[in-house]
Amino acid sequence: MSDKLFSPSKEFSRKARISQMERYWEIYNRSIKNPEAFWGEVAKRINWVKKWDKVREYDFVEAKIKWFEGGTLNASFNCLDRHVEAGFGDQIALIWEGNDPSKSTTFTYAQLLEKVQKFSNVLKNLGVKKGDRVCLYMQMIPELPIAMLSCARIGAIHSVVFGAFSADSLRERINDSTCKILITQDTGVRGIKNDIPMKANADKATAKTPSIKHVVVVKRTGEIVNFEENRDIWWHDEMEKAEPKCEPEIMGAEDPLFILYTSGSTGKPKGVLHTTGGYLVYTSYTHEMVFDYHENDIYWCTADIGWITGHSYIVYGPMANRAVTVMFEGVPNYPDYGRFWEIVDKHKVNIFYTAPTALRALMKEGDDWVNRNNLSTLRLLGTVGEPIKEPEWLWYYNKIGKSKCPVVDTWWQTETGGILITPLPGSTPLKPGSATLPFFGIEPVLLSEDGKEIDGNNVSGFLAIKAPWPGIMRTLYGDHKRFRNTYFSQCPGYYFTGDGASRDEDGYYWITGRVDDVLNVSGHRIGTAEIEGGIGKANGVAEAAVVAYPHDIKGQGIYAFVTLMTGVQPDEAIRRGILEMVTKEIGPHAKPDKIQFTPALPKTRSGKIMRRILRKISENDIEHLGDTSTLADPSIIDALVDGRI
Ligand code: WT7
Repeated sequence: MSDKLFSPSKEFSRKARISQMERYWEIYNRSIKNPEAFWGEVAKRINWVKKWDKVREYDFVEAKIKWFEGGTLNASFNCLDRHVEAGFGDQIALIWEGNDPSKSTTFTYAQLLEKVQKFSNVLKNLGVKKGDRVCLYMQMIPELPIAMLSCARIGAIHSVVFGAFSADSLRERINDSTCKILITQDTGVRGIKNDIPMKANADKATAKTPSIKHVVVVKRTGEIVNFEENRDIWWHDEMEKAEPKCEPEIMGAEDPLFILYTSGSTGKPKGVLHTTGGYLVYTSYTHEMVFDYHENDIYWCTADIGWITGHSYIVYGPMANRAVTVMFEGVPNYPDYGRFWEIVDKHKVNIFYTAPTALRALMKEGDDWVNRNNLSTLRLLGTVGEPIKEPEWLWYYNKIGKSKCPVVDTWWQTETGGILITPLPGSTPLKPGSATLPFFGIEPVLLSEDGKEIDGNNVSGFLAIKAPWPGIMRTLYGDHKRFRNTYFSQCPGYYFTGDGASRDEDGYYWITGRVDDVLNVSGHRIGTAEIEGGIGKANGVAEAAVVAYPHDIKGQGIYAFVTLMTGVQPDEAIRRGILEMVTKEIGPHAKPDKIQFTPALPKTRSGKIMRRILRKISENDIEHLGDTSTLADPSIIDALVDGRI
């Protein structure tokens, strides 16, 4: 923990939406005391076809949550038509920066609307109706947000699957929500990779997805790909034929907007479902307040749209606010480590939002890459995805922000839809590594093991939230029971986040990380059970247990303990087989960094793996293995310690 305090500069505060702590507390208290009045007021920021009957209705025991019930609206109308109708059609909505530094394009709000209407008609022509699921498996190309907004326009539910996921992962997700259409691209480019086999993966996945009727393919690279007659369709062919106008479907506030799969503590991914009204209100409001967004600011969130950060803070939040938003196809180290700063310079970015893992990777390459570019347009910096440590926070603040830009460390989750704990940049004094204080309307609590609220400051516990906010997910697709069990039953009466946190003497929150079997690798959330399942399928493997260990760049690295079948010797082929199987089953981002072969795993007499011991071994902290007497076979410890990598 750091005791340093960084207050916003007078210059920043003067123009900020919230410029004093008194003002923050005043609004915060009001939002907690009378949430219905508060959110009813906030909800006016978006366009409703019909106003809601009731602002909020919820029951955390049954896990039933509704916001703005009775209200009707359309998300795509709110992100596009509304701005065009107000005379801002020529304003830039999206700046797309290609993987190749010489390629970038812009789309105005009118241009996006034109494309979205056409693609909405393409989907309709393919038989997509309100409530149907459409899977999007793409890299960071403009057609991705266009397809999302088109789904939203006709009331179809999009399910974006991150472009690095394997064919197997894609298939599992398509089948879980029985998607009717899959949208993908021929191949993808990202950094030095120029042949990411998107369509080929899609073909492998759809070999066993009976619900898929058509595959729409964007021509991104022109690579020759397999095409299945009657089923596969080129995006550009259909767009040429499509009618130019498509009226937005009138949706209920609680109609689903999208599903986004995320990892939990079991092997099966969870289809987090977000609905229309509350999500749009929450993402647009937080985007404006947390990033202190002002008209014409150039805003860049470096996340991939395949994760929630991209959904909420590249697409829906910014576009509902008529922001100018940058979307980047590439990676921070291509063609070199200066790429991020070159883009900031090139597009004159004012607000920059990234992940600590990217900062760590760039920081270690030295300041020359930074100094080569003019970063004077930057006004505000943000981070998300994992706890940020003091060294990278200070580097970000001093070197990138030149000690004049507030750093908003935003804590939230796929499930929360938007940011819950965060500084407000014009008012909150910052402490490096702390996400600081709750956003308006959010009541965080720390709970003990037995689910009791821990009062006062200088305490720590499980982080939970007392009451819903408009952006909270409504269910897990097709599995409301799991939704209730995962989030509302461990600590009845609260939304359980799965994170641990402490609250310091000033009431600031410090997120310490997951308390469940979920890893955070380079800001990517992966369940240990998923990785173990993948390893378990590899040749020769009997059993595996995966834990996280501290990793300089990734935050957490993946350490796998593997036992082999009797008679199988650990060698390079077995190792390679494991890495290949994990890549095939999940994707390259889930590959173990370290594999330790061991004659056995440490288990209790009831057969439960004692991960605490494995964690200590992976951290090289053998002095603190703790009590090992409850192990069925305590002698295994020596072998585990000797085999450390
Ligand atoms: C988990 C959620 C929400 C966008 C990206 C990740 C961790 C997220 C922070 C932060 C410390 C953070 C938590 C959380 N996390 N932001 N600012 N400080 N930890 O979304 O994949 O759903 O992961 O990421 O552990 O539970 P996600």
